[in-house]
Amino acid sequence: MSEDKVVCVTGASGYIASWLVKLLLERGYSVKATVRDPDDPKVKHLHEFEGAKEKLLLFKALSKTLAEEAAWKFAKENGIDLVTLHPGVVIGAEALPGPYKLVDVRDAAYAHIQALEVPTATGRYLWEDKNETTQQFSKERAKSLGINFMPWELLLGHGYTVKATVRDPNDPNIKHLHTLDGATERLHIFKANLMEEGSFDSAVDGCEGVFHTASPVFLSTNDPQAELIDPAVKGTLNVLRSCAKVQSVKRVVITSSTASVFFNERPLTPDVVADETWFSDPDFCKKSKNWYALSKTLAEEAARKFAKENGIDLVTLHPGFVIGPSLHSKLNLSLEVILNIIKGVDTFPRPYRFVDVRDVAYAHVQALEVPTANGRYLLVGKVTQRCEVLKILHEHYPTLHLPEKFKAADCEPTYKISKERTKSLGINFMPLEVTFRDTVESLKEKGFLNF
Ligand SMILES: NC(=O)c1ccc[n+]([C@@H]2O[C@H](COP(=O)([O-])OP(=O)(O)OC[C@H]3O[C@@H](n4cnc5c(N)ncnc54)[C@H](OP(=O)(O)O)[C@@H]3O)[C@@H](O)[C@H]2O)c1
Repeated sequence: MSEDKVVCVTGASGYIASWLVKLLLERGYSVKATVRDPDDPKVKHLHEFEGAKEKLLLFKALSKTLAEEAAWKFAKENGIDLVTLHPGVVIGAEALPGPYKLVDVRDAAYAHIQALEVPTATGRYLWEDKNETTQQFSKERAKSLGINFMPWELLLGHGYTVKATVRDPNDPNIKHLHTLDGATERLHIFKANLMEEGSFDSAVDGCEGVFHTASPVFLSTNDPQAELIDPAVKGTLNVLRSCAKVQSVKRVVITSSTASVFFNERPLTPDVVADETWFSDPDFCKKSKNWYALSKTLAEEAARKFAKENGIDLVTLHPGFVIGPSLHSKLNLSLEVILNIIKGVDTFPRPYRFVDVRDVAYAHVQALEVPTANGRYLLVGKVTQRCEVLKILHEHYPTLHLPEKFKAADCEPTYKISKERTKSLGINFMPLEVTFRDTVESLKEKGFLNF
């Protein structure tokens, strides 16, 4: 789309502009960026972005901020097609307390690209995502640029009433759900078990959208049929049967996995770009005793068949290895693997398919809200080797003792995963560095890491 296009970014050393340069390079643009001093160590990070060596040129430019009025006057007089963006307080992943008009820096960077790429973009765009003041600001024009804003509280934050099922409503591990903004008024907890027929009937009744995420997630088991496959497959059919009984459900979104995509005989060499046409092979899963992959593969197969036979609008999402900050204090399987990498317990060199939990949650909302959403969506921000993970961790946390020495061979190029379909859902994956930093901070906060 943007291959071979050249753009100019002024003030590239800045917070938003740095993200913008990174995003533009990732999209294949050649970037001419102006900074006050190209030799200033403050701009070193720009050279480290992927593609910077080939496609980033830094120019020295001593510029003053042009007043908006002067810019509009000059653009009018000189026939320049001008768009101005007016974000609120731009912040990173952490929310600030206080009366701010907040917008995420990644949305701000993305908006700049949209302002260039959307042919109808014109005039002024005022926006912020979460208005902490009493004033109201319209997001309509920003939305017309395709800006969906990073999620703050997702479904509850989007004004939905949420019926959520858990196995045990008295489990202290679900306490965090009650503290979410809007939970008192719009969150209703239901008791349900995948293995109990009809268990989901009352929760599903009256719902427009159903997100089926519940499924056992572990890798070692003595009884794969009873512990993994039955809850995954029979549980999915159980939920779908509840959906088929009511008129209200317009779409079902199932959290599948890359486990139902990649377990087959196809080679994953560095030249491969895998996409949603890939399917795991149940016989291959059985032969390799990958019971989790088998459970997700059979569950997806059964869901697709049932949806077709019963006229259910079904979307399946296939996240890779999900990491990022945790809202509760339990350690799930994927966060445990990150802990093991940090502690040097997991030393197996293999590529990981990482995705941020916030992108996964957002993709679920988009899968329901985007009218044209259909079929399968692979959710993988980046396929990378463990050595890159350690490099990121080392850069951000030099004092963190990483027990393992890594061989250069660990960092060989890997296969890639197409993001085309996911982009059509409006998902722009978070950078791995941000995800890792927030994962480590979250693990520290919950007491799983001490340094
Ligand atoms: N984490 C990843 O890297 C990853 C990657 C791709 C896909 N996924 C998929 O994402 C979904 C959520 O995974 P997660 O990582 O969030 O794992 P998790 O924290 O272990 O969540 C699994 C959920 O499934 C529920 N569950 C399991 N067996 C059940 C049963 N018999 N009846 C009712 N509920 C049951 C669990 O309830 P309890 O709390 O009561 O046990 C829990 O709420 C799963 O479908 C998983 O396959 C995860």
